[in-house]
Amino acid sequence: MKPMAIREILIHPDSRLKAVANPVTEFDDRLRALADDMLETMYAAPGIGLAAPQVGVLKRLLVMDCVKEEDAPPKPMVLINPAVTWTSEDRSTHEEGCLSIPEQFAEIERPAEVEVAWDDFQGKQEVERFEGLWATCVQHEIDHLNGKLFIDYLKPLRRQMITRKMKKLKRERARA
Ligand code: NI
Repeated sequence: MKPMAIREILIHPDSRLKAVANPVTEFDDRLRALADDMLETMYAAPGIGLAAPQVGVLKRLLVMDCVKEEDAPPKPMVLINPAVTWTSEDRSTHEEGCLSIPEQFAEIERPAEVEVAWDDFQGKQEVERFEGLWATCVQHEIDHLNGKLFIDYLKPLRRQMITRKMKKLKRERARA
């Protein structure tokens, strides 16, 4: 198998970030290699979550690790075909950012707790309840699989302002 590699993260606006990703049907070595690359890309960024469309792969796959304590062991998670199966009535607000929208942050309100079901590498279903930062992160990443970004929760004016900044950033990077 090929060694892990850092992949290029797409920057908003990009049509691939607006697309609805396709269910994973092949649980093969290529899928594992993609997940490994995504974890390496996420840790290198650094970030706490990354969805496959952000590296240009329109598959329903996300990786995350929301362990914040410096001395705690990492907890890399790979969720294949994830789906929210329950949300709490309680809501909470977290400041969110996104590796596809660098340097931009906004307070987003979402259900405080969610239950998510997903497939593991054998295609076997896992179910887990997430709270706190994990709940925010998993909802943010599942949104990516449906072509939705955190800025889509903002008022149009604020969203347009951020999009303009990202277009400028992309022009600058293209010239560099
Ligand atoms: Ni994101």
